[in-house]
Amino acid sequence: MPGMASVELHNLGKTYPGGTRAVDSCTLSIEDGEFVVLVGPSGCGKSSLLRMIAGLEEVTDGTIDIDGTRVNRVPPKHRDIAMVFQNYALYPHMTARRNMEFGLKLRKVPRAERRSRIERVAEQLGIAELLDRRPGAMSGGQQQRVALGRAIVREPKVFLFDEPLSNLDAKLRTQMRAELKTLHRRVGTTSVYVTHDQEEAMTLGDRVVVMRDGRIQQCGAPMDVYGRPANRFVAGFIGAPTMNFIDGRIEFGDGRSRFVSDALEIDAEGPEGSATIGIRPEHLILDPDGPLELMVDVSEPLGDAVDVIGTCGASRLVARLRRIEPPRPGDRLRLGIEPDTMHLFDADGTSIGS
Ligand SMILES: Nc1ncnc2c1ncn2[C@@H]1O[C@H](COP(=O)(O)OP(=O)(O)OP(=O)(O)O)[C@@H](O)[C@H]1O
Ligand SMILES: [Mg+2]
Repeated sequence: MPGMASVELHNLGKTYPGGTRAVDSCTLSIEDGEFVVLVGPSGCGKSSLLRMIAGLEEVTDGTIDIDGTRVNRVPPKHRDIAMVFQNYALYPHMTARRNMEFGLKLRKVPRAERRSRIERVAEQLGIAELLDRRPGAMSGGQQQRVALGRAIVREPKVFLFDEPLSNLDAKLRTQMRAELKTLHRRVGTTSVYVTHDQEEAMTLGDRVVVMRDGRIQQCGAPMDVYGRPANRFVAGFIGAPTMNFIDGRIEFGDGRSRFVSDALEIDAEGPEGSATIGIRPEHLILDPDGPLELMVDVSEPLGDAVDVIGTCGASRLVARLRRIEPPRPGDRLRLGIEPDTMHLFDADGTSIGS
């Protein structure tokens, strides 16, 4: 069995020469066998964080423990970690088999053991018939499988993935995503996976860690992050189409607390002052008595639903509606909000309820 390990980050920080603060005070406990996905926009520090865990980047401040051992000063080759990158980084002059064998030889794994591990992993990944080919004679998806295989045969304590699927076409990406998940279920190795694709994060992760500007914004099970985003940034980043935001104010009067804007007036509890309401497109419904009136600009039929894009006061809204003919530009639609799906954010963007 491969080794397994927990990964503990405490107040981890990275400042590059030149002063960029790429990672700032990141604290995260990854359990043995967990599959954690780091997600966030380009430049938010995902790769920097991952590379510090791998030992490819020096830690500026804070600590990393793997399997209970402080590894800040442990060189990469002694961390028992395997990393898979976006560009497969296979050796072009070696066959798939040699590529997979290389790391095992370095670690002095006996020949028979090398053979059997490679055969087994190649079988799992469906690349058995490619073992004698060189990377130049393989498709992108096949090369990425070999790169995965090379990491898996090592049987490391931890897998680190940095956008390993982003060079593949959409169909292959979805397929490989499912295979990675199955593989993890079977092997159970602690995994940290970086992507900027929120859908990939949601479908792959036991837990999703949303980052922005080097900081962890929220960490939780995919449906928690979707259902209870900690702030407006997370709310807007997770979910597609993006959550609708309507800016307005909370006002008290007649013994009630109301959210008031040019688009929407509705009961909402919160401190008096500026506030933003968030509604996901899939939570808007056709409702003749609803509180919103959408002036339609565009309809995008999806087959099982229609994304209707339009304006409501000063806000631009998207509604994902089911069982309707696509509305025409200029149509006015009365929309309601499904019960208990509204999010409320204060002036700083912090969630103050839903
Ligand atoms: N070697 C480096 N030297 C200086 N600055 C760097 C270096 N590597 C990354 N940075 C900076 O650190 C910040 C975080 O970069 P990082 O590569 O970790 O982001 P990322 O989240 O992986 O982005 P992407 O999704 O584009 O891969 C960026 O501002 C980037 O320009
Ligand atoms: Mg990156």
